[in-house]
Amino acid sequence: MAHFEKANSIGEWLDQRLAVETLKRVLQTEYWIPKNINFLWAMGMVLAATFGILLVSGIFLLMYYQPNVNSAFDSVNYTIMSEVGYGWLWRHIHGVGASIVFLIIYIHMFTGIYYGSYKKGRELIWLSGMGLYVAFSAEAFSGYMLPWGQMSYWAGMVITNLFSGGSLHADGLVEWIRGDYVPGQAFLNRFFMLHVLLIPLAIIGLIVLHFGTLRIPHVNNQDGEEIDFDEAAKLYKEGKVKESKVIPFSPVFLSKDVLVMGVYFILFFYLVFYHFEFAMDPVNFDPANGLKTPTHIYPEWYFLWSYEVLRPFSTNIGLIAFAIAQVIFFLLPFLDKSPNVAPASRRGLFKFWFWAMLIDMLVLTFMGKLPPEGIWSVIGLVAALVFFALWIALPIITAKEKKL
Ligand code: HEM
Repeated sequence: MAHFEKANSIGEWLDQRLAVETLKRVLQTEYWIPKNINFLWAMGMVLAATFGILLVSGIFLLMYYQPNVNSAFDSVNYTIMSEVGYGWLWRHIHGVGASIVFLIIYIHMFTGIYYGSYKKGRELIWLSGMGLYVAFSAEAFSGYMLPWGQMSYWAGMVITNLFSGGSLHADGLVEWIRGDYVPGQAFLNRFFMLHVLLIPLAIIGLIVLHFGTLRIPHVNNQDGEEIDFDEAAKLYKEGKVKESKVIPFSPVFLSKDVLVMGVYFILFFYLVFYHFEFAMDPVNFDPANGLKTPTHIYPEWYFLWSYEVLRPFSTNIGLIAFAIAQVIFFLLPFLDKSPNVAPASRRGLFKFWFWAMLIDMLVLTFMGKLPPEGIWSVIGLVAALVFFALWIALPIITAKEKKL
């Protein structure tokens, strides 16, 4: 056992047991961040902070929420919203957080795509990031079931129906997932468990992994420059701060992150207090009714693009298209054949690929919200076809890319 000297302060006492000083020293003098990065590199910490807020607000909601088909709706819409002091505030924070976290995830993902931060050496950062995307999607979907409103019920019905596998007729699978023929008590119970326990645990594990995968390749930078971190750190330590290409994580980089987070939280709480309704579907303020199908069932905005990839096709092709859309982003590091780690603006045809993909996903998102009729369904079909054409084109155009 280690030898513990008599400590002269609480700080020293903790340091003997937790090596707090060592951690401080590592973050201040051994963990380096490139200087040449912009505010988009703060999105990772913004995501981590938003996840923290979702956890805390979720714990407060959990004190009054009842996972029972007869009382879930009222426990949310009456007890929490009007009877519990500040219950409405925790619900608005949780609802706005759940929606905004996806906006930040998409910005973080597309920043990674733009700067090529998924390439050689950084594949695992990307793969663990995609794991987080899938886990957050499952977390959002399971949470959406909990208020047991009309959209909870019918979105639950539509999404679990996908598991019947079209003409494969894997019908028993759907009932197994639901625990019943239609969404009911067993269904609500298991989605409650997934939402408050299993998926948050998986997310925490994946965040630890994601941070771990960043350690060796280090974060990328705006020019995709391969930095000699030892050399740059030496210059910094010698006081040649201007010449050095890196800054220490703490407190220099951290202070930049905190500034961006400050601005973000002003916007976040502005939405919580003045515009929370964008994160809540009006149809979900009607209690679940298995006998009354809403005229138009659609998912939350962040799932609309993949929903629209499924919708224009017949059941079987639609299911395959949907399944591919869910996993295709995992393959990005392997489908991009170019050796260049550089911003898309310097990468020939990839520049067009990037903007075409971004615009196409926005079009799919807008079409997914509209009823599949007339011109909207034609635009939706074209956008879905363009989505797949772009993925097929990716290895071809990137293989031809000249080395920069
Ligand atoms: C919600 C959970 C997530 C958290 C908390 C998180 C956190 C972070 C943090 C702190 C960084 C380092 C700083 C930065 O570049 O922002 C980072 C980098 C990165 N993340 Fe995430 N991330 C999450 C989700 C994702 C997703 C969904 C993807 C994409 C599939 C992704 C891909 C990346 C990549 C490629 C980098 C490296 C950026 C670079 O080297 O420049 N992350 N993440």
